[in-house]
Amino acid sequence: MQTTGYNAPMPFHPPELATVLVVDDEAQDRSIHAEIVRSLGYAVEEAEDGRQALTKIETTPVSAIVTDLKMPGMDGFELLRTLSDRGQMIPAIVLTSFGGIGNAVTIVHDLQAFWYLEKPAEPAVLATLLERAMHYGELLRGTERLQRQLSQQGVLGEMVGSSRAMQQVFTLIQRSAPTQAPLLITGESGTGKEMAARAIHRLSPRSLGPFVAINCAAVPSELIESELFGHEKGAFTGAVGRHIGCFEQANRGTLFLDEIGEMPHNMQARLLRALEDSTVRRVGGSEEIRVDVRIVAATNRSVLGLQGEKALREDLFYRLNVFHVHLPPLRERKEDIPQIAKTMIDILNKKHGCFVTGLQHAALQRLMAHSWPGNARELRNILEWAVITAQKDLIRPAHLPEIMGTRRPSEPAAVERKDGAVSFELGRKLEEVKREYVAETLKSVNQDRSRAAQLLGISMRTLYNWLAESKQNARAAS
Ligand SMILES: Nc1ncnc2c1ncn2[C@@H]1O[C@H](COP(=O)(O)OP(=O)(O)OP(=O)(O)O)[C@@H](O)[C@H]1O
Ligand SMILES: [Mg+2]
Repeated sequence: MQTTGYNAPMPFHPPELATVLVVDDEAQDRSIHAEIVRSLGYAVEEAEDGRQALTKIETTPVSAIVTDLKMPGMDGFELLRTLSDRGQMIPAIVLTSFGGIGNAVTIVHDLQAFWYLEKPAEPAVLATLLERAMHYGELLRGTERLQRQLSQQGVLGEMVGSSRAMQQVFTLIQRSAPTQAPLLITGESGTGKEMAARAIHRLSPRSLGPFVAINCAAVPSELIESELFGHEKGAFTGAVGRHIGCFEQANRGTLFLDEIGEMPHNMQARLLRALEDSTVRRVGGSEEIRVDVRIVAATNRSVLGLQGEKALREDLFYRLNVFHVHLPPLRERKEDIPQIAKTMIDILNKKHGCFVTGLQHAALQRLMAHSWPGNARELRNILEWAVITAQKDLIRPAHLPEIMGTRRPSEPAAVERKDGAVSFELGRKLEEVKREYVAETLKSVNQDRSRAAQLLGISMRTLYNWLAESKQNARAAS
């Protein structure tokens, strides 16, 4: 160990080869701190500013960073923000000569720095913090290792899937989860977009914060602003009290914007502004409220569809599409069916108090032969039926519903149905035919509204409006 001019405390045993990167534009400060760190038994790398630090990190495995805050070029804030955006969780100790509690809170919370110290750092304090930083880094690596092992066995949070496609999805989720960057999840209805969003939240540093979900297609356009940003009492007719919007509810957590392609364009512009400024203003309010929210958006349109149909404003699209996770349809990864089915049967046994042990080979064959237009949600619905019907032992083909090629004892259909077609007698009222056609379409996709809207070639909003309208008409007629 080198000697120093400091009365350095006896170090704990720093992990061999642990490198600490000391970043400071002031040569004298840098060498003083580098010297302390070296005296504690660590290897030391030095950098003059954030940019040089990033280059060093690319070439040398760094266990902890000790950085100044104010530096020309890339400062300490930007360095930590860049590392956080990249998901590089290196514990950082921030040293600065101008302080204030505000800065400390921002650094420690938002930028996930490990600690905050006034310059010049006390060697004993720096020694203790570096020791803790090393333990923390070890914990992070251990958690990462465990997650990787689990995902290689086809499990990520509640999601299962060993197919190549799902392994790629898991890798992307793991890589993006620790960052603050927005995410866009695409995939047909029922492929697990919300499940993926929850997995991202759970694996992120925000996991202790709230996960708030809003379905942009299900909220009437005149209410979406108040749902997102909240409103003050009396802001509009019916605003009897103050309402806290999703953004504020999701503070320090994750906001899941489902069916983002269905959000009206003027609202998309407001959303973009909120994302850029990290502030919201309640409807009828004047205060700008700071929010710290990570956005995960989802759509069952393809990325090309989103752009081509102009469902999403281009500026918002680029803002959200920092990471793009695409969930492939189940028919393209049928090898996942046995594992997903097993997991679902376990869950459904618990839910319904049943003792089903698995699927008989012939029943599994039926599942493998099906095309799964409703994806994993349809699989869950079918297994729910089968688990309740079978109660115990193995699920046999007879336990599967009609749609899987066996008969289900059910009431006669309101219209004649045959091989995916429905026919209506001439002379029926158009309104009636429309209602029944929509009902049949919904039935064919296990009541999955977004898939039904896709099949009908209409937006989710139009479908919701139709359903509400026909309910009203039926009520009026009775
Ligand atoms: N990989 C998976 N492993 C286990 N279960 C899954 C998986 N993917 C989806 N599921 C199940 O499928 C169902 C539908 O998932 P989810 O609600 O996340 O789909 P979605 O893509 O958000 O659908 P929609 O577009 O209709 O909102 C859930 O009940 C979930 O339990
Ligand atoms: Mg969903």
